[in-house]
Amino acid sequence: MAEKFHRATFTRNFLKTVTRIKNPDEMLAEAKSGGLEKTLGVWDLIILGVGAIIGSGIFAVVGIAAAGNADGTALGAGPALVVSMIIAAIACVFSALCYSEFATMIPVAGGAYTYTFATLGEFAAWMVGWVLMLEYAIGFIAVACAWSNHFVQFMNGFSNVLPAWLANPPVWLVNDAFSAAKIAADNPDVTIPTFFGIPICINLPAILIVLLMTAILVKGTKDSAKMAGIMVFIKLAVIALFVIAGAFYVRPENWTPFAPNGVEGIFAGAFLIFFAYIGFDALATAAEECKNPQKDLPVGIIGSLIVTTIVYVAVALVLTGLQDTSSSVPMAFLKAPMAYCMAMLKMNWAAGLISIGSLAGLTSVLLVLEMASTRILYAMSRDHFISQRFQALHPKFKTPAKLTWTVGLLAVVGILTLNLDVAAELCNYGTFTSFIIVCVAILILRKTDPERPRPFKVPFSPITPILGILSCGGLMVYKSMQQSSSALLFPVWLGIGAIIYLLYGFVKNRLNENKLHKEAVELKKLEMNK
Ligand code: ALA
Repeated sequence: MAEKFHRATFTRNFLKTVTRIKNPDEMLAEAKSGGLEKTLGVWDLIILGVGAIIGSGIFAVVGIAAAGNADGTALGAGPALVVSMIIAAIACVFSALCYSEFATMIPVAGGAYTYTFATLGEFAAWMVGWVLMLEYAIGFIAVACAWSNHFVQFMNGFSNVLPAWLANPPVWLVNDAFSAAKIAADNPDVTIPTFFGIPICINLPAILIVLLMTAILVKGTKDSAKMAGIMVFIKLAVIALFVIAGAFYVRPENWTPFAPNGVEGIFAGAFLIFFAYIGFDALATAAEECKNPQKDLPVGIIGSLIVTTIVYVAVALVLTGLQDTSSSVPMAFLKAPMAYCMAMLKMNWAAGLISIGSLAGLTSVLLVLEMASTRILYAMSRDHFISQRFQALHPKFKTPAKLTWTVGLLAVVGILTLNLDVAAELCNYGTFTSFIIVCVAILILRKTDPERPRPFKVPFSPITPILGILSCGGLMVYKSMQQSSSALLFPVWLGIGAIIYLLYGFVKNRLNENKLHKEAVELKKLEMNK
């Protein structure tokens, strides 16, 4: 007789179940039978990596990291921004090495979620999947809205040639409700339509770019990598233009005082600029689609991080050499620092090109963040945490089309309802947590499964993973000590995740186990009756 399904109870069995790990061999076998198409080579990976990393961080956030917030709530690093960037990069390198070891050892979809299932068990895996949704899905929504802001700014530049509705669209059509309310509070001329007292705000450019990215991703990972390639080329070209053109106008006196806000300013800058490095980990989520993951993934992950760090340091040196960041700076510098500096040097053509480059940069970030969200959910659906229907691949393009459209449409709902300032900060929390967990998981698997072949090994383990935990944990604790709504909302997000697991994920998984058990019993009966 098939065992009866028992509901979740807080018994020893419950604890055993929620800490049950999934054997990596089982994961590899599942990925082999079915699984996603293998189309990505090493260059595709580096392009996807740089595509995922270089975005609004270097085109916008860098201004605040250098000069601080307009309202004084965040200190700027000043010219020491270079040091902040190196601190953030070092924190990322420790985790990147751990990601590489895992990605080559278990090259299946899902990234940190999958690694957690192999080391810390079912509940921790669910929670990591939930936290990764903060990083990728909420990050996707936040970057889509940043894209919309850049697009509107870009169109403003054509006020002389374009009709007014296109060059200066109504605020309610290009903003979320929270930002629109802020703008309306400062400008009495701005009106926002309401429906039964509820303000109607539809961030149309953000919605359209999300739908476009979704359609491209459904068409295929290889095509998405090609498109990311074009975007990466454009953004690197405009950044090179900024660095080379700007270098001739650098005034070394702007580099003193080097750290106007001391160590505190440097760490505040490191926390902020950490956002600019988010994305290299997304490569690990696409491991299943790599032709040769063992060799190519570490090169892709570490390579894209190195390229990015070099680019960022060059930008930081030129930027702080062009603009004095030790005292207050104009608002335009905080919003789009590179374009502002070029305009300041009367190179309006270069400022225009930088706007195009930032749009390209954000587009490729969007593409990879959405891809990463769908690949994690794909792995979660394979583990019966969410509906198996999401496993269905598109008959022609062989991509998880249903899942990709679901993520795209949920992102549209998010754009219509979320407060995006908080969303972007939550994205940082999600990333720190997943990096820390991956470092912990490396230490655990080295102990529990030391014989497993590791085509790439983290050098100097356990020192490297421990340094990863300390550096990411340190930056996270630093941020939590400052008052912010994200520091309060993060535990709330974790709580909601745990409740959903108990009421849905846990029950769904046990129902599936019960079904499998029943099938096995039936099969045995049939064999015995033969
Ligand atoms: N690193 C990505 C960006 O800067 C998230 O936009």
